[in-house]
Amino acid sequence: MKAETIHPVENLSGQLELPGDKSISHRYAMIAALSQGTSELRNFAAARDCHSTLGCMKALGARIKVEGTTVGITGQGLHGLKSSWRALDAENSGTTIRLLSGILSGQEFTTKISGDASLQKRPMKRVVTPLRQMGANIRAKDDSFPPLEIHGTKLRAIHYQMPIASAQVKSAVLLAGLYAEGTTEVTEPAKTRDHTELALEEFGAKLEKRGRTIAIHGLGGKNGKGALQARSLDVPGDLSSAVFFIAAASMFPESHLYIANVGLNPTRSAVLDFFQQMGAALSVVNLQSKQGELVGDIGVKGARLKGGLIAGDLVPLLIDELPMLAALGPYTEQGIEICQAQELRVKESDRIAVLADNLQRMGAKVEQRPDGLKVEGRSAGKLRGAEIDPRGDHRIAMAFAVAGLGAAGETRILDADCAGVSFPTFYGELRRLTGG
Ligand code: S3P
Repeated sequence: MKAETIHPVENLSGQLELPGDKSISHRYAMIAALSQGTSELRNFAAARDCHSTLGCMKALGARIKVEGTTVGITGQGLHGLKSSWRALDAENSGTTIRLLSGILSGQEFTTKISGDASLQKRPMKRVVTPLRQMGANIRAKDDSFPPLEIHGTKLRAIHYQMPIASAQVKSAVLLAGLYAEGTTEVTEPAKTRDHTELALEEFGAKLEKRGRTIAIHGLGGKNGKGALQARSLDVPGDLSSAVFFIAAASMFPESHLYIANVGLNPTRSAVLDFFQQMGAALSVVNLQSKQGELVGDIGVKGARLKGGLIAGDLVPLLIDELPMLAALGPYTEQGIEICQAQELRVKESDRIAVLADNLQRMGAKVEQRPDGLKVEGRSAGKLRGAEIDPRGDHRIAMAFAVAGLGAAGETRILDADCAGVSFPTFYGELRRLTGG
């Protein structure tokens, strides 16, 4: 429970390379464990969440070797997982529990999976509902929350119309679809990150995409053993982690930042378009496609940001960046308004409430709404340093560490270590690039 003190700075400059993308690392780890042979995953995420996934896959019988940021995973094929004698612990990771629920639904054994106090409050009905339609027998606390007890079985293909735009739900159904007989289809109400689709294809699964519908051909009935093949893959740097530094560099006119090897998948990079619309001085170079994922380098200079509105189909495309964008609001001309983002209330914390509370502690003018918030821009006055309580939420802790860089006086981030859930080296990099 270590606190971090953030002091005001004049600029943020230098070069940065980020740990591997969290979303992609989860998927590569899970799918590698279902493949035949040994996969080598380089620049695997340092995020605590992804190591929770590794712990679960190990408990399910995958052989895993971690050497620095390279992870070797030996799988025994689609039907090679073994029942775990103890309950799986997804810790803080929603992606781990929701995606694994899809895989566990297709096994011939029963698994119990839970997580920390925050995860135990997160809604699971959204994955339980489609997986039950596929035939899985799942028990949940109050029929909605972890722990989940998943009795795997032979699954049937469904066409699932997702009521909410969630990549985790889409992924759970697609992963279960690997085990179903026939073709499983998922239709999303709005586009969400497509790393599962890309990763499944990379390991040898057959998918088709038509607009917002994704179809996967089940492999379980056939030669499940060799259906997915081990791969050697590089995980791109995490754009969601880069955004804290892009925001920080933009705040100061003298900044000059270069971030190498960042994942720029179009279902994630809407945040860069939004920064550009606000007037940020961004440049993207060395764009290339690596194993289905787009990767490039990002240059950032200081700029006077205009602010703007985030709503509708844009929300799921930059859902994880909303804490940083909200906390950047007081440094923009017109402020930041976030609408139709009620999903923020069921993340690692109630992000709408926690953002509003901490912004107010720093003297910002904020209106909290059921589905978002409105944060006034510069004219509402300069932020002042304050004690920030991120309520254990990594993205809140990092967003306010950045907001503190431009505030008057010191900002103290309580329980600052929670940043390790996605970015263990965050404060060290922030100090290095701000000369602190
Ligand atoms: C993620 C999807 C998003 C995101 C989360 C990671 C993923 O969640 O907020 O941090 O890797 O699929 P939802 O699917 O709940 O929107």
